[in-house]
Amino acid sequence: MMSKTVRIAPSILSADLLKLADQVAEVEAAGADWIHIDVMDGRFVPNLTFGAGMIEAVRRVTDLPLDVHLMVLEPEQYIEPFAEAGASVFTFHPEATVHVQRHLAAVRARDMMAGLALNPGTPLAALEEVLDDVDLVLIMSVNPGFPAQSYIGSATAKLARARALLDRHGSGAALEVDGGISPRTIRAAHAAGADTFVAGSAIFSASDPGAVIGELRERCREGVPV
Ligand code: DX5
Ligand code: ZN
Repeated sequence: MMSKTVRIAPSILSADLLKLADQVAEVEAAGADWIHIDVMDGRFVPNLTFGAGMIEAVRRVTDLPLDVHLMVLEPEQYIEPFAEAGASVFTFHPEATVHVQRHLAAVRARDMMAGLALNPGTPLAALEEVLDDVDLVLIMSVNPGFPAQSYIGSATAKLARARALLDRHGSGAALEVDGGISPRTIRAAHAAGADTFVAGSAIFSASDPGAVIGELRERCREGVPV
């Protein structure tokens, strides 16, 4: 089923951090829907990034929902501090923890959207048992850790299977894709049923980030086959 919603979530991992307030204002003015914040711990993924302090700082400069993606072991320890810091979506990996259902419920109890992210090598089976507990499913189209990697083609078929699973279950959860999304790759992901698109380097490495947001949206609108 082709979804009508198109949410664009620029990832600040690729922003110029010394100009972050300006860069967030720029993508907000260009129609960004969410701001994606990648939290990495150097253990679940081989990179270190942001914590609650960054979420709080971004919260101060925008009213857009903050889409926080945790690539950390034991993400449950951040539910309280990130809720306090102003996170809107709290997405974690089932590969990184044990009591997934309990943690999804705890995220909802803190009035955040509960998201489950699956690495390219993780089957959708990890999602099947917790369909009632998720507000967002994030299909990784790269192995997480770094920006500017290439879109893994098999993510498209996985998105289509995730879409069918959510529809069959009557779930209204958002279906997000993250990694290598650009004007060249977004259409296949959209046609497969994704409705929420993270893009880091495609937006922030461009000379006109706002124009890329428009282009991404436009590529989802075009009627011609993928
Ligand atoms: C990857 C992160 C992504 C990253 C995407 O580990 O989860 O959110 O910022 O960057 P691009 O869009 O450049 O692949
Ligand atoms: Zn991410």
